[in-house]
Amino acid sequence: MKEQLEIIRKGALEAISGAQGAADLESLRVKYLGKKGELTAVLKQMGGLSAELRPVIGQLANEVRASVEKAIEAQSAIVSERALAARLEAETVDVTVPGKKIPLGHKHPMYAVLDEIKEIFIGMGFEIFDGPEVEQAEYNFTKLNAPEDHPSRDWTDTFYLTKDSTVLLRSQTSPVQIRAMETHGVPIRMISPGRVYRKDEVDATHSPMFHQIEGLVVDKGITMADLKGTLNTIIREIYGSNTQTRFRPHHFPFTEPSCEMDIQCHKCGGAGCPTCKGEGWIELLGAGMVHPKVLRNCGVDPEEYSGFAFGFGLERLALGQYKISDMRLIFENDVRFLEQF
Ligand code: PHE
Repeated sequence: MKEQLEIIRKGALEAISGAQGAADLESLRVKYLGKKGELTAVLKQMGGLSAELRPVIGQLANEVRASVEKAIEAQSAIVSERALAARLEAETVDVTVPGKKIPLGHKHPMYAVLDEIKEIFIGMGFEIFDGPEVEQAEYNFTKLNAPEDHPSRDWTDTFYLTKDSTVLLRSQTSPVQIRAMETHGVPIRMISPGRVYRKDEVDATHSPMFHQIEGLVVDKGITMADLKGTLNTIIREIYGSNTQTRFRPHHFPFTEPSCEMDIQCHKCGGAGCPTCKGEGWIELLGAGMVHPKVLRNCGVDPEEYSGFAFGFGLERLALGQYKISDMRLIFENDVRFLEQF
């Protein structure tokens, strides 16, 4: 029996040291130590031994059991360590491999230009104001000193929302001048960018919806020199420090005197080219000294305060900045176009 036990020990230890996984080890444990296992089978024969031999064999059997158990335990530790190492190896992330690019959108080119302009004005102490796109005729025209028969009030030019022509889609951002003076009071320095609506047919330079930026400065002692100085400074920030400008007399109901501001064509330098339609100059904005009637309509005393206002089209500015030839591209939102900026 002694030899039998030694054979079992030898066989078991060999098999255990060659086991590759936890399942192998478990079946070896059953094979040698289980109820129907080899060691148990030997022990069952112990009844036939002499009284002297029984304790000796008993002790040896216990030793064999202990050494098999220990071997299983040791091998099990080795096997699970190996499994862990293999798993870590398989799951290793190489942080030096370039990542997958997630497609990310970006600012629309016109809003990029708008943000740039806002920054310039904010740097000069202007506040940003917002006004409603659905506006009252009272604000869009009347308080801005537009007479009842002014052509811009005509239904062929303006989108009215009510039959009595009292509510409309604003045709300019100028009503925000009124709203700003009413709510904020004077002195004031503000700009107000936003959408405006006119009954224009769509072509390369027209759209029934476009964007304007309105500006208003009211304080004591504001003169036309402030208007020219401020607008020249801003235009040179946008178009470059040696940009030439000129002011031409014009008419707006809400400013007196009124003017339009042109810049010398940045393409031909004033010689005349298709961009400036041979003129050498490009019309940029409308402006003027706030009409005393408009100030009075907002409860501001024109004897005490004066101011200037200006308004310009944002699309035209963006078209010039990015050398885009057709305004429709700005609104169509074709990704192939927008991706270029
Ligand atoms: N609202 C005028 C327009 O749409 C522009 C303007 C604004 C002119 C402010 C003078 C002062 O043409």
